[in-house]
Amino acid sequence: SDLFGAARRNSSGIDLSDADTVERLLAAMQQTWNAPQRATPIIGAQARDGQGLPVCDPSDTRRVVGEVVPATVADVADALARAAAAQPAWDARPVAERAACLERAADALEADRDAFMALAVREAGKSIGDALAEVREAIDFCRYYAQQAQAQFAPLALPGPTGERNELTLSGRGVFACVSPWNFPLAIFIGQISAALVAGNSVVAKPAPQTPLIAARAVRLLHAAGIPADVLHVLPGGPEIGQALIADRRVGGVAFTGSTATARRIARTLLDDESRPIVPLIAETGGLNAMFVDSTALPEQVVADVIVSAFQSAGQRCSALRLLCLQEDIAERVLDMLKGAMAELAIGDPARIDSDLGPVIDADARQRLLAHIDAHRASVIAQCALPEATQHGHYVPPTVIRLARIEDLTREVFGPVLHVATFKAGELAQAIARVNASGYGLTMGLHSRNAATMATLRAQAKAGNLYVNRSMIGAVVGSQPFGGEGLSGTGPKAGGPHYLLRFATERTLSVDT
Ligand code: NAD
Ligand code: ALA
Repeated sequence: SDLFGAARRNSSGIDLSDADTVERLLAAMQQTWNAPQRATPIIGAQARDGQGLPVCDPSDTRRVVGEVVPATVADVADALARAAAAQPAWDARPVAERAACLERAADALEADRDAFMALAVREAGKSIGDALAEVREAIDFCRYYAQQAQAQFAPLALPGPTGERNELTLSGRGVFACVSPWNFPLAIFIGQISAALVAGNSVVAKPAPQTPLIAARAVRLLHAAGIPADVLHVLPGGPEIGQALIADRRVGGVAFTGSTATARRIARTLLDDESRPIVPLIAETGGLNAMFVDSTALPEQVVADVIVSAFQSAGQRCSALRLLCLQEDIAERVLDMLKGAMAELAIGDPARIDSDLGPVIDADARQRLLAHIDAHRASVIAQCALPEATQHGHYVPPTVIRLARIEDLTREVFGPVLHVATFKAGELAQAIARVNASGYGLTMGLHSRNAATMATLRAQAKAGNLYVNRSMIGAVVGSQPFGGEGLSGTGPKAGGPHYLLRFATERTLSVDT
């Protein structure tokens, strides 16, 4: 094994342009859609039964995907007690054994790919392409962190004077609370958990309330792959369960992905109790992601990358393009082409292979987005029409809003809404500075064939992931470690060589020999 992954390969995809492949995939996914799906609190590998609530499909709310038994505050205490008791023995196991569990989990995810894809499509409204990427990323996280742990967690001998032996070791911090969002209900859910586990922590995981079914299946798979029952627990529920979990002083670290506002609330909760140990918070949060385009860019490529970056996944990626900044003299040409490309977007049932984008996650998200569009009605310069068949789902039409100034966009708008502003030739650095001033720093893009312009981006951008002459989404594990700065998160980057270290505590041993 090595630190930068030369000996590791990411998972392979399948050819979604091949009709036979797609037919087989849909038949396999149908089996999951036909089977009853249920999520419960899983504590000590036991499913705690109770009254189930329906989980509905965001693309057609008349369709019930399964049911969920929500966790209670008593479940939080139960899970934490078991996780705390089980952690020392798990931490004492050789890192190779913990890593082997993740390798087995990756193999099992690969074998069960179609079922996980089926849940991502129906529970989270993901397109088939996005659902495939979701499962692949989860597999890649497991294998990557398994490899990284083995490379990084061996004791390190350090220099000292003759007669002194120095050693640095890494071990788990205790119980990690893993709190995740609905927009990567498998990849981020498993990414956080697998990192925490392989570093020697036990885990109490709280998935997003919108996506409990895929999370429960993932936890059952991890247990079957060898993660001991009391080392991993899952608590389906909303903010109140997350809050109760974070507030408990038995939590030795938090991995959180979600909104910037929630990250602040969690940070406050962790610091409220003065007698509590100071524990790490890894927060990966929102973005106000801009793409700059100068007059040397190829307009066709720009438009193709803007469509993917802004509208794929219905704009519900933290990485998604929110603000397109066009050099003044090319703006109208690019916008005309963009309108033409938007007219070609196929909006509808994500289970159809030809759908480009599906619904947003729930009624609240739809209302918030429609209210934002309404508030800017006079500045809407392009909007797709929604087909009749979308009327029972939480669909939002892809929309472009023209802004007078770059700084007019001040908060993340989490959906298929793109904002456009212009900058003057020769003023790219100032335009980047205006975006930096928002305080967010997740992704940033540039389309330009001018090497000096690329250098300007690199020197000026305060963002975690920069993309040049390509789309701004779909970071690949091990190749594009992902995460931002400022209001976009604390780092370290998921899928990168520094991630696991934050889950571990460092100890030295010095022996006078
Ligand atoms: P959210 O902040 O509403 O919820 C995220 C999770 O936190 C959920 O599980 C939720 O139940 C829980 N939660 C809410 N309040 C809590 C509290 N007080 N204490 C503990 N837990 C609490 O976010 P969301 O709407 O689920 O996800 C969308 C957001 O996530 C967007 O802002 C997006 O940019 C961000 N995101 C960031 C990344 C990244 O890597 N930077 C990746 C994906 C999503
Ligand atoms: N890692 C995800 C992406 O890059 C958020 O789109």
